[in-house]
Amino acid sequence: MVALVPLLFLQAAFGASVASQRSFRIDYAHDGFLKDGKPFRYISGSIHYSRVPQYYWKDRLLKMKMAGLDAIQTYVPWNFHEPKPGAYSFSGDRDLEHFLQLAEEIGLLVILRAGPYICGEWDMGGLPAWLLEKESIVLRSSDPDYLAAVERWMGILLPKMKPHLYHNGGPIIMVQVENEYGSYFACDFDYLRYLQSLFRRHLGSEVVLFTTDGASKTFLRCGALQGLYATVDFGPGGNVTAAFLHQRRSEPKGPLVNSEFYTGWLDHWGHQHITISASIVAKSLSDILAHGANVNMYMFIGGTNFGYWNGANMPYSAQPTSYDYDAPLSEAGDLTEKYFAIREVIGMYKELPEGPIPPTTPKFSYGKVALQKVGTVRSLLNDLSPSGPVKSIYPLTFVQLKQYFGFILYRTKLPRNCSENTTLLTLFDGIHDRAYVSVNGVSQGVLSRRDVLKLNITGNAGAYLDLLVENTGGVNFGRYNNDFKVLTMLSSCRVLNTEMSNLRAWFQI
Ligand SMILES: *[C@@H]1O[C@H](CO)[C@@H](O)[C@H](O)[C@H]1NC(C)=O
Ligand SMILES: *[C@@H]1O[C@H](CO)[C@@H](O)[C@H](O)[C@H]1NC(C)=O
Ligand SMILES: *[C@@H]1O[C@H](CO)[C@@H](O)[C@H](O)[C@H]1NC(C)=O
Ligand SMILES: *[C@@H]1O[C@H](CO)[C@@H](O)[C@H](O)[C@H]1NC(C)=O
Repeated sequence: MVALVPLLFLQAAFGASVASQRSFRIDYAHDGFLKDGKPFRYISGSIHYSRVPQYYWKDRLLKMKMAGLDAIQTYVPWNFHEPKPGAYSFSGDRDLEHFLQLAEEIGLLVILRAGPYICGEWDMGGLPAWLLEKESIVLRSSDPDYLAAVERWMGILLPKMKPHLYHNGGPIIMVQVENEYGSYFACDFDYLRYLQSLFRRHLGSEVVLFTTDGASKTFLRCGALQGLYATVDFGPGGNVTAAFLHQRRSEPKGPLVNSEFYTGWLDHWGHQHITISASIVAKSLSDILAHGANVNMYMFIGGTNFGYWNGANMPYSAQPTSYDYDAPLSEAGDLTEKYFAIREVIGMYKELPEGPIPPTTPKFSYGKVALQKVGTVRSLLNDLSPSGPVKSIYPLTFVQLKQYFGFILYRTKLPRNCSENTTLLTLFDGIHDRAYVSVNGVSQGVLSRRDVLKLNITGNAGAYLDLLVENTGGVNFGRYNNDFKVLTMLSSCRVLNTEMSNLRAWFQI
């Protein structure tokens, strides 16, 4: 027993000395990175752990490793981990530390995009909808309530990340602060400075902190900050030299970095799936690598927006469940022609790892799956909303009801006979985002944000007018991401938003 003590002590001392040899920093003299004191250039790919079930993490990471990547890049979506103020979730598909450990075991470095805002075609760009409980809040600014929430969250997240930093023995070589802040209207440098000191306070002075913005003077103007290394993002097909010149305006010395080199593109509901040809991606990738630049491919695997996690763009257009992105690994993690084209390019610049590439997983045909009708929303209200209705004079927002996703049924009784062609009109773009309208269970049509702002209803006095309002995704980009999910209605029959009671109906996938 006695002998164990010095042994453990020795081990701890040995561990510490190994950790202190590990370093990752910017080499301004040679326009590159230094890893453990040696020149280092990374080729990285994006994978969002929140878009791939935990069961598949290892398979996807191994395929990324076998493509020749040195690193992966991932976002941390705040709202995924703090669903309610002060209630944190880091288990199962949210087990970020396990994800980091897997990456390390497989031999991949990690570039962590810690937020608080991430964009990422993710609901509200990762910001929790409960921030909107203060209706006048200015997100992504020095608004004191916003900063207080950020400070609490980062006080949980960053200390968890600290032991995983490269110089502490983990895989994280760099940490991104905010995201494409130069594309946001606020241009609040105090906010960026606040984040910088918050990150430094929790992570220490050694780790490389960086920002990412579109490769143009306009974006870098409000996105870059002294002390945070400015990187750029741009897609294939353009002039790589010109794009990096924009980074050089902010960072005259140091490594060239494209933090988001687009291998494909995002989709919107109702539009064709977007594809980008493998040869264009391969050609520009080769061009970037020939510049000696560092690159992260966004996405290397897109995955899926499970549940209600998709975001939306303005003018309002929701993203679909799939986040396939036409990435080199398909939504299902399958190897594609683009994967092999990229691997071939990487092989021209560095040695590819030996060993087999994990094969595409076999697929099983389940044949036709018959769905059985269980009932209508109306007939199942007591099951869907066991706590019963919330009554109010005016319709409450999703945030006021503390139900941030999915559907809410708003119900009122028609105050008198509404004859044929009574127009139901949304005010001030008042449907966020869709409403299925029925009178006593008889469908009257669907209202939708931007597109269908009024429809005719008929019904007698006392009939139930139901509006099943759907949140189809919180705006994730631009100034409108304080995206309240609301209902404001007028009817020629009478102002309907008096005497309206709400019934909560929560569908969990
Ligand atoms: C790319 O941009 C650089 C820098 O602006 C310029 O010198 C070069 O001519 C451009 N190349 C092409 C093919 O347009
Ligand atoms: C409303 O319509 C019903 C059925 O057409 C009729 O019986 C009733 O008298 C009407 N009520 C009023 C207040 O007009
Ligand atoms: C109701 O609207 C429909 C469609 O515009 C029209 O054909 C019908 O004549 C209208 N009825 C009344 C009573 O205004
Ligand atoms: C709704 O009713 C109004 C008034 O009768 C009519 O002019 C209009 O065409 C109707 N709209 C639809 C879509 O039926």
